[in-house]
Amino acid sequence: MEFKEKTILLGVTGGIAIHKSLDYASQLVKLGASVHVVMSQNATRLINPLQFQVLSRNPVLLDLFDTGDHWKPPHIDLADRADLLSIVPATANIIGKMANGIADDALSTVAISVHCPILIAPAMNGHMLHNPSVQKNINTLRKNGIRFVNPDSGDLACGYQGEGRLSSVDVILDYTKDIFSQNKELQGKNVLVTAGATREYIDPVRFITNGSSGKMGYAIAEEAAARGANVYLVSGHTTITPPNNVKIINVDTTQEMHDSVVSLFTNTDIAIMSAAPVDYRPKEYTPHKLKKTNDTLTLDLQKTPDTAYTLGKTKTNQLTVCFAAETENVLENAKEKLIRKNCDLIIANDLLAEGAGFETDTNIVSILDRADKCEQLPLLSKREVANVILDRIMKMII
Ligand SMILES: Cc1cc2nc3c(=O)[nH]c(=O)nc-3n(C[C@H](O)[C@H](O)[C@H](O)COP(=O)(O)O)c2cc1C
Repeated sequence: MEFKEKTILLGVTGGIAIHKSLDYASQLVKLGASVHVVMSQNATRLINPLQFQVLSRNPVLLDLFDTGDHWKPPHIDLADRADLLSIVPATANIIGKMANGIADDALSTVAISVHCPILIAPAMNGHMLHNPSVQKNINTLRKNGIRFVNPDSGDLACGYQGEGRLSSVDVILDYTKDIFSQNKELQGKNVLVTAGATREYIDPVRFITNGSSGKMGYAIAEEAAARGANVYLVSGHTTITPPNNVKIINVDTTQEMHDSVVSLFTNTDIAIMSAAPVDYRPKEYTPHKLKKTNDTLTLDLQKTPDTAYTLGKTKTNQLTVCFAAETENVLENAKEKLIRKNCDLIIANDLLAEGAGFETDTNIVSILDRADKCEQLPLLSKREVANVILDRIMKMII
């Protein structure tokens, strides 16, 4: 079983999504883990610890000073036995305490005592999440090697819409499995991923862009890193949080993205081009903000460099994967691109299909190869799509 002989400490804090943590605890037990729950006092105001005790089949640690008959303080005893500390849900408060080494209750003390990987699944109102201090704390913990399951976007319990909802239990379990996974099949491989939208400037304040969120490329980069690859993520504009363990190169224009990708390509084993670079740029850049004088304005546009085409022409032994985001004749257009850009796989998606395309957390894609094989996938999360693409690549390189 996945977690047999693994001791997982489950930290539970006072977030409204706390009920999902019960399901997570129960799934971990079903997968064979020995689960020990540590709750904050505020968490106990939202859910009775007895529920965690029954589901985890172990006593819940609430009070640091409740040592019973044992000589060893419970936070050290648990910390020494832990293979993973997973905090679900994680409040802004526990993130802040951990980022600053504060240990004023059982959970925060356990958090600085463990010597195992730590996984944090934050959940909070969007304003709390984007508060500069909270973001700074998250970045500090990331730099310390702590892994995050980024929150989802959608309806929040507080009545708001936006980022901050606790990720699904299935996704948190996938991250948990990744931590124990021995499957580092991409170890030693350099994987180059592009993501997000570029901008082409008309004047200092106006630009041409598109609605790419970068979510697909970020998911691919994250999954490739989880499989042991050395990942370079060339990222255009996005509003999402960068994945763990990847090297990010932030770019603005299509030319910048092109130059970065071309310079990295020689040392690349696998290039996955999921960005949405803008195809045309204004021929003339106006160095001052254009005045609204005439009723119409004509822009003369010229092509930007086609990076996928350049890689297709210059590749030696690299495997290249391109995306074809289409709105009509999806498979025909994708097939034509596969040949013209000399790539090994092309991932076709219909931007107009419900659940597919730029902003969503899901995608519906077809994978086409040079042998004319076309695999049509159902509606999947972008993370699942990323894994299917990587599985397919693995079959091609072994
Ligand atoms: C009903 C309710 C729901 C809350 N939900 C959240 C939440 O989802 N995320 C969060 O960071 N704080 C939330 N809070 C605020 C935290 O409970 C508060 O910051 C508390 O100090 C956290 O303590 P802890 O981290 O020790 O559990 C909520 C508070 C209440 C009363």
